[in-house]
Amino acid sequence: MKGKLRSIFIVIAISVFVATTASAAEMGKFKYEDFKKPSNCGMCHKEIYQEWQQSMMSHSFTHKWDEVEYFELALPHSKKLEKVAGVKAGCIACHGPLAFLSGDIPPKKPSAGTRANEGVSCEICHNITGTSEKIPFNFSFNIKPDNVKNGPRKDSKSPAHKTNFSEFTKSPELCATCHDEQSPYGMWVKSTYREWTAGPYAEEGVRCQDCHMYHAPGKAAYGGKQREDLAHHNFHGSHVPGKLAGAVDVALYPSKKSVSAGDSLNLRAEVFNGKVGHMIPSGSAEERMLWLEVWATDANGHKWPIPVTPKGFPMEEYTIASDAMAYFAIGEIMDIKDFKGLKRDGNVPAGARIFRKPFFDPKGRMTVCQWYTAENTKLDYRIGPRETKIENYKWEIPNGAAKGPMKITANLYYSQIPSSVGEFFKLPESEYAPLLVNSAEVEIEIK
Ligand code: HEC
Ligand code: HEC
Ligand code: HEC
Ligand code: HEC
Ligand code: HEC
Repeated sequence: MKGKLRSIFIVIAISVFVATTASAAEMGKFKYEDFKKPSNCGMCHKEIYQEWQQSMMSHSFTHKWDEVEYFELALPHSKKLEKVAGVKAGCIACHGPLAFLSGDIPPKKPSAGTRANEGVSCEICHNITGTSEKIPFNFSFNIKPDNVKNGPRKDSKSPAHKTNFSEFTKSPELCATCHDEQSPYGMWVKSTYREWTAGPYAEEGVRCQDCHMYHAPGKAAYGGKQREDLAHHNFHGSHVPGKLAGAVDVALYPSKKSVSAGDSLNLRAEVFNGKVGHMIPSGSAEERMLWLEVWATDANGHKWPIPVTPKGFPMEEYTIASDAMAYFAIGEIMDIKDFKGLKRDGNVPAGARIFRKPFFDPKGRMTVCQWYTAENTKLDYRIGPRETKIENYKWEIPNGAAKGPMKITANLYYSQIPSSVGEFFKLPESEYAPLLVNSAEVEIEIK
């Protein structure tokens, strides 16, 4: 297809999507060659380049689960169901923006080695001039790929390009253009920026950049000025175990220090989000789980799980791990006959409290397909910034419990994707393995 014809075709294809969301005016307006390669910037910005290369930004198109979700689910679905036709281009606008801006839709798979693989590159963020929305979302960035690089300084000079001081580059609204997203059904399926504005950090002036880009004395480039607060490009998030470790506190309190078998014991767990600037989990909430497992271990090493005591709020069953099956849309999209669904909570042990926000498809079934989300407003049991959730446990000490000390442990875990979904798509285990966020332990005496 010729360039112009192809763009017209693409505009028609995504019109269903853009009608309800942001403008996609930038699609197909440019060519790959309009954007310099990150390795070019890396000649002078060596450290920043190295940091970006190790961050998720440079993997946003090539990362295994992104590839699988787009090529095996979203793309085939976009061809089957008119309502979601726009995601064919939409996913790529944020995950492979060079391909989107060049009209290379759908792009070839990562193995083909096209420039879509560069992901969210230097030239994307530093050529963004603003947004077409009042409160940005859905790739509503305005972009001007020329030799002017927008940045945070008023006095920087470069031999390779012009520089421009930009309030927008420094603002969380830059991040919001991609980190908040509405589905074709008008549901907020990503709302990290909106969660942040609703919390205490926005008012205190603590930006996304302050927690996700570390600032330290140094130089941005060879020949650049010495800066006291050089912005590093780490972008550590939930994919970095060390960023998650300790992000939430856990405390555990037993009602009695000494009990006999058959007695009932009350426990109180307090779970405090003191470090995350938005909800935890945030981002792709459709597939993220944070959960609390409470276990008792007696003097002989025998272990019992202690199930949470329900509070009785509507739809609470989605926040207590069970053997329920879900994610039926996967079978429909992939044409799998007699698809029985996948375990909703993967390997999370039954009875554990799950902090999550479930998404539901137009048929009312829980889904990991965020683009196919028609409802997700009725239950949000995640932990907000500086919020504490209190969980109660009422447990009868089993008759077989050995006399002596009994350890009670509360472990808080996080996973990117339910293990059932990860196993089904044969993803590397590291993409869905539980990560320990924190734990607490108390000892009681069995008389
Ligand atoms: C020949 C070396 C060189 C190359 C190549 C280069 N830059 Fe720079 N760049 C610099 C120098 C030097 C500065 C000034 C740094 C300072 O004084 O703090 C700079 C500054 C910047 C700034 C900060 C602007 C501001 O006002 O805050 C950005 C953003 C930037 N460069 C992006 C890029 C991007 C994107 C590329 C690749 C397309 C690139 N640079 C390629 C040398 C280079
Ligand atoms: C508005 C921008 C935007 C759009 C549109 C978008 N994404 Fe994303 N996507 C993101 C951002 C930002 C993240 C990272 C947030 C997080 O950590 O969960 C993300 C995360 C993901 C992840 C999770 C990666 C992981 O390691 O767990 C997958 C998979 C994914 N997107 C696939 C898709 C698919 C498929 C589509 C199209 C149906 C799509 N995205 C549309 C911005 C977008
Ligand atoms: C996801 C968006 C994003 C990407 C991708 C990105 N940057 Fe940046 N960059 C920023 C933001 C935001 C700032 C300003 C940080 C602040 O305000 O604290 C910045 C600052 C800079 C600065 C000035 C640093 C300083 O403190 O003076 C340079 C130079 C720079 N970036 C170069 C690059 C290069 C080179 C790449 C690619 C290897 C890159 N950036 C990729 C968002 C990005
Ligand atoms: C052009 C779109 C775009 C912009 C602008 C953008 N991001 Fe992202 N960001 C993404 C995508 C896409 C991913 C997901 C990568 C993946 O998992 O595939 C991501 C991932 C991340 C992650 C890693 C999340 C995780 O789960 O580990 C962090 C942290 C992050 N972004 C922070 C920021 C911040 C801070 C800004 C603003 C300075 C910003 N982003 C601007 C598209 C963008
Ligand atoms: C007060 C510090 C702080 C601020 C402010 C902050 N974050 Fe985070 N963010 C964290 C921490 C800590 C984590 C790791 C825990 C987690 O994954 O939720 C995180 C995780 C993330 C993730 C991965 C989400 C997930 O659960 O998979 C994304 C994406 C992200 N941040 C983007 C942003 C954006 C965009 C903003 C601004 C709108 C922002 N953050 C503001 C501290 C912060």
